[in-house]
Amino acid sequence: MIASDWWIMNFELGLFGLADVAAQKADVLIVLVPKDFKSGSGVVPGLIGATLKAGHFETKAGKLLPMYQAPGVASTRMIMVGCDDGAPRQVRQAVTAAIGVAKGPGVLQVLVCFGWKASADVLACAVAAVADASYVYTTTKSKPEGRTISKVIFGGVDAAAVQDAFDQAVATVHGVELAKEWANRPANHATPAMLANAAKALAKRPRIECEVMGPKKVAKLGMGSFIAVARGSEEELRFIVLRYQGAVKSQAPTVLIGKGITFDTGGISIKPAPEMDEMKFDMCGAASVLGVFRALADIQPAINVVGLIPSCENMPDGRAVKPGDVVTSMSGQTIEILNTDAEGRLILCDALTYAERFAPAAVIDIATLTGACVIALGGVRSGMFASSDSLATQLLAAGEAAQDFCWRMPLDDDYAEGLKTNFADVANVAGRAAGAVTAAKFLQRFAGKYPWAHLDIAGTAWKSGAAKGATGRPVALLLGYLLAEAAKAGSGVVKPLAPRKRKAA
Ligand code: BES
Ligand code: MN
Ligand code: ZN
Repeated sequence: MIASDWWIMNFELGLFGLADVAAQKADVLIVLVPKDFKSGSGVVPGLIGATLKAGHFETKAGKLLPMYQAPGVASTRMIMVGCDDGAPRQVRQAVTAAIGVAKGPGVLQVLVCFGWKASADVLACAVAAVADASYVYTTTKSKPEGRTISKVIFGGVDAAAVQDAFDQAVATVHGVELAKEWANRPANHATPAMLANAAKALAKRPRIECEVMGPKKVAKLGMGSFIAVARGSEEELRFIVLRYQGAVKSQAPTVLIGKGITFDTGGISIKPAPEMDEMKFDMCGAASVLGVFRALADIQPAINVVGLIPSCENMPDGRAVKPGDVVTSMSGQTIEILNTDAEGRLILCDALTYAERFAPAAVIDIATLTGACVIALGGVRSGMFASSDSLATQLLAAGEAAQDFCWRMPLDDDYAEGLKTNFADVANVAGRAAGAVTAAKFLQRFAGKYPWAHLDIAGTAWKSGAAKGATGRPVALLLGYLLAEAAKAGSGVVKPLAPRKRKAA
């Protein structure tokens, strides 16, 4: 394990089932009970059967029955939790509720046991939910009271049959948590240079390489649009290029582009004060790319992936770009910057042009791009735009499988009307109507040379209010997509690395 992995939770697959879980000792035992629960032999099945019969426990998703020193149960505490029909959504709800009650001082080891032979999908969902419900951000607290739960063992599954899916789910969690960590850090603890260092640290892992460019190289590339956004800040911009090579070199890569605005004040078109702090999350797209690479290094799938992160701050200043300024993008297209707060598309367009050099199989950009997308879809589904129907279908499917949903939005050319201007090839904003779509139409002008999709994660990448914090979305969706692609490719697999060490529980 790399030294910076101190925050990582240990997940294991146990060889026990519900019948013999009573003998396993942990601080808390969580038992997931479906509505069609069939009682059998063993202490725990007996207890569940009795409570159900007495009407003291309901199997509605998330309904809890906590117990202390239950007779015959080695774990100090046991929590029965209803899972309804045992579908991924219900299991997520149940696990979230149970971990919420279970976590606290002195709770280090947790057992999670399914009351039915759970499928690999359901297990993966439970792993994700445990991680999510127990996550605690600590980096900028003076007394880090972090996550106490450090080890979680899952039982009640056919361990041999689900092992690979389990390993992928655990790797996905590590990716999601890396994304959350960087997204949650305040902007003064997550500058473009710091993000670049995080990417460089990833390059210590197998099959990952990283190159970081500063203002000089970016100017040489002709990224005039990206540079215009960075002008107002004292922090230097960074352009980060990550490469994961899991397949033969000749295989066309998938390119992921993450918006890396480490703070978005709006620039000269400055934003109002309320909730402006949340614009530290404007690099969630970039964080999701880092998270995906973290997981790729663990899983080592047979696919080639390139990660591009244009990163800078969007600040007002004497040198800042002004409304009406016209800049020349790397593509040669000139852009009239009518609103300096529509900066995400201005840094992404140059990265989209840079992506052409990889002759990619597909390019997916991920961005907290528009407030309009929050209005359209809220925090449930990310907005998805695609120039290719098959890419769209695959992203939708990956989202469903990973419980990290997206929804396809339109790209009719009529939506681009408002981007017309008398002073440049294109303006960076249209009117207020369909703001998420017009932003995507702007990007599409730069993504004509390959199959392309755009994920607007403005509503899904973080939560506001009391639970303010990053969600790590859409790391799970992207990994699901990439792993499905790797499975399809089949050929082009390079020699596997030495087998990963597996811990038997
Ligand atoms: N980063 C914001 C988008 C955003 C706003 C995400 C609120 C989540 C919550 C982006 O850079 C932005 O400011 N977009 C503008 C575009 C507008 C000026 C056309 C917006 O959505 O208001
Ligand atoms: Mn903005
Ligand atoms: Zn922004």
